Amino acid sequence: MLTLHKFLDAIESDIAKGGSSSYSPHLQNFIFNFLTRSLVGADPAIDPELAKSAPSTLNTWLALQVLPVMPLLIFQPLEEVFLHSYAYPFAFIKRDYQKLYNFIEQHGGEVVRRGAEEFGLPLPEAIHNLIFVLGFNAIGGFSVFFPSLLNTVATDKTGLQARLREEVRKLSDPSTSLSFDSVKDMELVNSVVYEALRFNPPVTLQYARARKDFELTSHDSVFDVKKGELLCGYQPLAMKDDNIFDEPESFKPDRFVGKGKELLSYLFWSNGPQTGSPSESNKQCAGKDYVTRSASLILANVFQRYDSISGGAGKITAVGKAK
Ligand code: HEM
Repeated sequence: MLTLHKFLDAIESDIAKGGSSSYSPHLQNFIFNFLTRSLVGADPAIDPELAKSAPSTLNTWLALQVLPVMPLLIFQPLEEVFLHSYAYPFAFIKRDYQKLYNFIEQHGGEVVRRGAEEFGLPLPEAIHNLIFVLGFNAIGGFSVFFPSLLNTVATDKTGLQARLREEVRKLSDPSTSLSFDSVKDMELVNSVVYEALRFNPPVTLQYARARKDFELTSHDSVFDVKKGELLCGYQPLAMKDDNIFDEPESFKPDRFVGKGKELLSYLFWSNGPQTGSPSESNKQCAGKDYVTRSASLILANVFQRYDSISGGAGKITAVGKAK
């Protein structure tokens, strides 16, 4: 969690200098470093030039891919004609992408070897796949989810922060680093992460084509779906279903504590229920458990380090160091 502490150091330094921290650039660096270390197994610090440029390379690379389907809603119908009618050329980003490719080829050792040897991928394909998972799935997902989680906690006025720090400090040993294992039993921390995913699912829309005829049932209707039909799911709607979630429009930090864990089979943010497992056939997020555990680990670290944090959208205005 060294990378997280560098992120928090940068926020503190901004606050000391200017009274607040608009943390987006620090967050991009943190997420890139954290995820590259954990997914690729390489520390970007060994190539300082790449460590500096890669977060913005990946942002541009991601933007070029999502822009054609991203509703900007500012100047329709010109937006449809000029921005949404063609794919953007890879040439714009080719040179910087190649630097990232070279870094992973050189330093991705074990994970690249497994892609090639265990999964039979040609080496270049293993590397492109790793960049896709790192840059699109992982960094893309965390860049949306993490600010939403931080914002929820930093703006809370119900005493949640006191309860989080109490739980974290009760269940952790300050002399050792927190780990995936040590946050497993932090029920409130985990529940806050689940509730943040329910309240604002980071990827709102899912599309799929029916592979066979089937009946799709809701609480009160049955729909006949024919093979080949296009289906669209809108997670924010499902996550505010009052047949399932009590007061769905309220953020309830304890919703998934104790018996509330039964609701995990209705929590959809990852293309399937939180209790399901990703497989080749269901297209559920392959990082599903990694996401929730990492988010809990980050949140627990924040409340091991601080008594309180305050802020708003994309901004931290004050942190109270742990006494
Ligand atoms: C907060 C972070 C994340 C969010 C919100 C998220 C969300 C999702 C969603 C909604 C899908 C389904 C997309 C679709 O087919 O419609 C998905 C797929 C996927 N995710 Fe994630 N994800 C996150 C992080 C990660 C991480 C860290 C990894 C890798 C370790 C990952 C790997 C994948 C992969 C490989 C797929 C494609 C699965 C397939 O098509 O079979 N994701 N993710």
